[in-house]
Amino acid sequence: MSATARKTAPLPDDIRAMKGGTPIVSLTAYTTPMAQMMDAQCDFVLVGDSVGMVLHGLPSTLGVTMEMMVLHGLAVARGLTSAMMVIDMPFGSYEEGPAQAFRNAAHLMRETGAGAVKLEGGMAMGETIAFLVARGIPVMAHVGLTPQSVNTLGGYTVQGRGEAGAALLADAQAVSEAGAFAVVLEKVPQGLADEITGAVPIPTIGIGASPGCDGQILVVDDMLGLFTAFKAKFVKRYAEFGVTGEAAIAAYAEDVRTGRFPGSEHVFADQAP
Ligand code: KIV
Repeated sequence: MSATARKTAPLPDDIRAMKGGTPIVSLTAYTTPMAQMMDAQCDFVLVGDSVGMVLHGLPSTLGVTMEMMVLHGLAVARGLTSAMMVIDMPFGSYEEGPAQAFRNAAHLMRETGAGAVKLEGGMAMGETIAFLVARGIPVMAHVGLTPQSVNTLGGYTVQGRGEAGAALLADAQAVSEAGAFAVVLEKVPQGLADEITGAVPIPTIGIGASPGCDGQILVVDDMLGLFTAFKAKFVKRYAEFGVTGEAAIAAYAEDVRTGRFPGSEHVFADQAP
């Protein structure tokens, strides 16, 4: 499916049907202009809870609230016409159980118009995913490195190496059996990501996983070089907006201090022309 040829946003089932075909393209977005920039290229756009670290300067995603997700979800929705919007359920909004998850997922979808929610966790989330899907809420799952569990995982390390691989495979199978329409594999060794991709009937979306996944996702500020706090190994920088932006701001400051800006072309005549 070519995003540029599409008139309307795909549904979760359309994304599911892309399993094994042309790789699924996705990025995160948090604002209207960024969403507009990627709309024609992406099959789906994720309003990620990475917004907390990327835009709000939080040390992790744990401080992200429902209010923040609604605000950024609305902004992204205004910029999309042809990509599907998926929105992250923030930490603490779904882990208590299916009823809490339904209430908050319904709120996010109602307020923002998102086509699906994403939540983190494997087997432990199976019951919740099944509950949501049975009640009309499409769910994208997320296994491997699940940043909301940074405190129990002990850091942002690669997941599923060695004997831990079997449990991760079981997690991916569990979310698929529970009814998730796709699953994000984050920071999973390539061989395991390929094994999972071959084992589950739903698309795998890799981030730090494998080119063999059914699709890829990156945090847009990472790939544009805007988020410069650190660069993960799995990020490919397609631009250096951070460097270009700093130089532009320095040039502006210099122009203001030396009186070169504003120039005659930037000011208004006393009389209308
Ligand atoms: O919040 C996020 O940006 C994500 C992606 C990294 C998959 O969950």
